[in-house]
Amino acid sequence: MPGPITQLLSELRTDHRNMARLLKLLEGEGDRIYAGGDPDLRLMGDIMRYMSTYSDAVHHPKEDRLYAELRAVRPDRAGGMGRVSEEHRVLEQQGTSLLHRLEDSRSKDADSLRSLVTDALRYADLLRKHMRWEEADLFRRLDKLVAEGHDATSKAVVIDRRDPLFGGEVEKRFEDLYQRIANDA
Ligand SMILES: [Fe+2]
Ligand SMILES: [Fe+2]
Repeated sequence: MPGPITQLLSELRTDHRNMARLLKLLEGEGDRIYAGGDPDLRLMGDIMRYMSTYSDAVHHPKEDRLYAELRAVRPDRAGGMGRVSEEHRVLEQQGTSLLHRLEDSRSKDADSLRSLVTDALRYADLLRKHMRWEEADLFRRLDKLVAEGHDATSKAVVIDRRDPLFGGEVEKRFEDLYQRIANDA
């Protein structure tokens, strides 16, 4: 039977696929404004709310704990991992700031809309690069650990919090976003 590391890696990879879909939607709003249209601020706000509620609060902490496990078991294979928590922190900071600006209902002039979209695209780029690094490098270090027979965790790495959008039961505040993803599929 697969152990907790296998299980967690599978959840993390699913999260990445889901987040990539949301980033595509976010980037679509960037294309829209550069083509002369108006970005859908509600959609962007819903996406950033999900990033804050789930990615920052559940996905990244799960990874931090799992990486700590790897560092504890194989410190010799922890090279370059020091910056991962810092990247999580920066993503959370940028994401929260974007969310607050999107939730601010005061009307926005063309310049502030453009700066909002530019920052959203920068965030999308950072998160995408971060996920690529994890998949191409960090997750593989954990795969290797599992392949060598270490599929247990000494620390409580499991965070028992359901995904409010992709977790089977959609929370009310994410229903519009869910519909949008379903229409896009
Ligand atoms: Fe991460
Ligand atoms: Fe991740």
